[in-house]
Amino acid sequence: MISEKKYTVVTGAGSGLGKAFVLACAQRGRNVIMISLPGSAAQVIADDVMAIYPVDVQVYLFDLTDEQALKSNLQAITEKYNIDFLINNAGMGGTASFLHTPLEAIDKIILLNIRCTTLMTKLLLPSLITNEKSYIINIASIAAFTPIAYKTVYPASKSFIASFSLGLQYEMADKGVQVSVVYPGPIMTNSDASGRLIKQGMKATLGLKSTDYIANLAINKTLAGKSIIVPGRFNRFNYYLTKFLPTKAKVGLISKTVKKEIQHLP
Ligand SMILES: NC(=O)c1ccc[n+]([C@@H]2O[C@H](COP(=O)([O-])OP(=O)(O)OC[C@H]3O[C@@H](n4cnc5c(N)ncnc54)[C@H](OP(=O)(O)O)[C@@H]3O)[C@@H](O)[C@H]2O)c1
Repeated sequence: MISEKKYTVVTGAGSGLGKAFVLACAQRGRNVIMISLPGSAAQVIADDVMAIYPVDVQVYLFDLTDEQALKSNLQAITEKYNIDFLINNAGMGGTASFLHTPLEAIDKIILLNIRCTTLMTKLLLPSLITNEKSYIINIASIAAFTPIAYKTVYPASKSFIASFSLGLQYEMADKGVQVSVVYPGPIMTNSDASGRLIKQGMKATLGLKSTDYIANLAINKTLAGKSIIVPGRFNRFNYYLTKFLPTKAKVGLISKTVKKEIQHLP
């Protein structure tokens, strides 16, 4: 029997921005299904959230890049829970020369950022559209504004997320599904992301926003029907600026800053 309660599915919910989405949902009285990697802090977070807020939080631990695990877990979830909100947050990136990046690392970015987001959406849409109104948030990045050397696959994957989301938004408009894409700027979510920002220098931290700010803004704007969400004034300025700059100029400008991270690598 499917639950009467409605649930929000959050991927990568055990840390960083995903954890902030779980809290933002609970604060709005939304029940949550957290999807995290085995060994994550998800269950502890779920217990803490349920001790504070009158919501139900369920935890599913599996690797999103494992197609069989993804399909079987989502089947179990959709048979049991009424899903009216999906937040595709899990994603990974990094800075390295493409030539020297191991094949497995490149494949993992493509699997998690592109394939998982697409499959999650495809597998949960039948459940989402059973509700009169439902919502999808896909997390891109300001890295999607332009191609970037020494990141190459990550910005391309986030560009895919943006294009996929906006195409789907048009297709789903008459089915009651609001699809939004969020382009966060830098976030100090983990030591890797923080270290990279520090190495890029002052300029890279200008668009810095907290996970709480981004998660709350993303949910509020999505509920209000906004499809393109760029958190922070500085990041919004860059969003419009990169639309007008010639591609060669913007790739050169941003790649020069990013290259500093490589020069600092041991
Ligand atoms: N940090 C930034 O500066 C920044 C900027 C712009 C956009 N973003 C985007 O924002 C999103 C969240 O970033 P973040 O910095 O908060 O991430 P993070 O701290 O690096 O955490 C990544 C999350 O992805 C999940 N994850 C990774 N591999 C997974 C897998 N195979 N299966 C299931 N879950 C997996 C992990 O979930 P669990 O911990 O729950 O296992 C982890 O919470 C990503 O899409 C990222 O690209 C980040």
